Amino acid sequence: MSKILVTGGSGYIGSHTIIDLIDHGYEVISADNLKRSLPSALDNIEKVTGKKVTNYEIDLCDKNAVEDLFQKEKNITGIIHFAALKSVPESVQNPLMYYHNNLESLVVLLYAAQKNGVKQFVFSSSCSVYGNTEQLPVTEETPLQEAESPYARTKQISEKIIEDHARVADMKYVVLRYFNPVGAHESALIGENPRDGVVFNIIPRVTGTALGQYDHFDVFGSDYPTRDGTCVRDYIHVMDIAHAHTLAIQQLDRDANAPKYDIYNLGTGNGVTVLEVIHAFERVSGIRLNYRLQPRRAGDVVSIYANNEKAKTKLGWTATRDLDTMLRTAWQWENNKRKQA
Ligand SMILES: NC(=O)c1ccc[n+]([C@@H]2O[C@H](COP(=O)([O-])OP(=O)(O)OC[C@H]3O[C@@H](n4cnc5c(N)ncnc54)[C@H](O)[C@@H]3O)[C@@H](O)[C@H]2O)c1
Repeated sequence: MSKILVTGGSGYIGSHTIIDLIDHGYEVISADNLKRSLPSALDNIEKVTGKKVTNYEIDLCDKNAVEDLFQKEKNITGIIHFAALKSVPESVQNPLMYYHNNLESLVVLLYAAQKNGVKQFVFSSSCSVYGNTEQLPVTEETPLQEAESPYARTKQISEKIIEDHARVADMKYVVLRYFNPVGAHESALIGENPRDGVVFNIIPRVTGTALGQYDHFDVFGSDYPTRDGTCVRDYIHVMDIAHAHTLAIQQLDRDANAPKYDIYNLGTGNGVTVLEVIHAFERVSGIRLNYRLQPRRAGDVVSIYANNEKAKTKLGWTATRDLDTMLRTAWQWENNKRKQA
């Protein structure tokens, strides 16, 4: 059985991906320092799958700790590298923390992977690498513009580090550029659950406002050149994102001629405005959201959505869940989390 190291396994996308990997017969271990997530995610993975996943609570910037992990866990066949800091505003405030954490951990991991004979490496990138592009929808060939934030720049640089490494290493690499992952596992046992409870992402802010955790929801920018003036994003259900990782690993398992370095967009292909998200939430929850239109925020791109043809044709991937399902599962998760607290 193939053994996959998932970094950031107790985080939002990592935990959902672990479930999908286990469902498809993979053995999984996790490495997560739990700085941005809670160990309960791993307990709940066990409730959903019946499998206990070992987490190594290490900082991936720590070369010795990473090497120790590889000494304890022999025969890791593939790595899916989710672990990173991901907040755009936080990265604008503290760029060095982002460069240190996101780049150092990648380099340390690539060294260890190469030294220990790992053959597959899947990397979590982001549509933020495209910057404020004029060309929509974006394909994997769309030229990358200036990064709008230090966070986005860490993803651009990470992709280049991987591409350079791919020229010399005996390993295959898949870069997945996620658009905007939202929603939660259908069990409502796992979902987006940051450790400090401070969330910057849109859906937890929406649900948190509805639950009275925040007084109101801020819509940053209402005068953009979009259909209702608010930013356009391509929201994609987290379980659809999760499954793409399994497909990427399966493709590397079965296709000896797979390219050494490949990039895929993961989005639905539909651009949705912030106000449309709010209205979809109001529809599935029956709750009127208290929101306020605010000035534009530094680091935000105006509009972005994916051309996902490559992932469809080459990975056999399709986004199967619609916007209402994204909001319904997120809402169920937030309510269930409250009941359990
Ligand atoms: N969620 C999104 O909207 C989104 C969009 C595009 C790309 N991504 C990328 O996907 C990946 C996963 O995102 P997520 O939403 O699951 O984030 P998350 O914060 O929920 O999970 C990341 C996990 O990595 C861990 N981590 C971070 N740095 C670490 C380090 N140095 N050593 C060990 N563990 C570390 C954190 O504790 C956390 O559990 C990230 O690389 C992120 O940049 C996320």
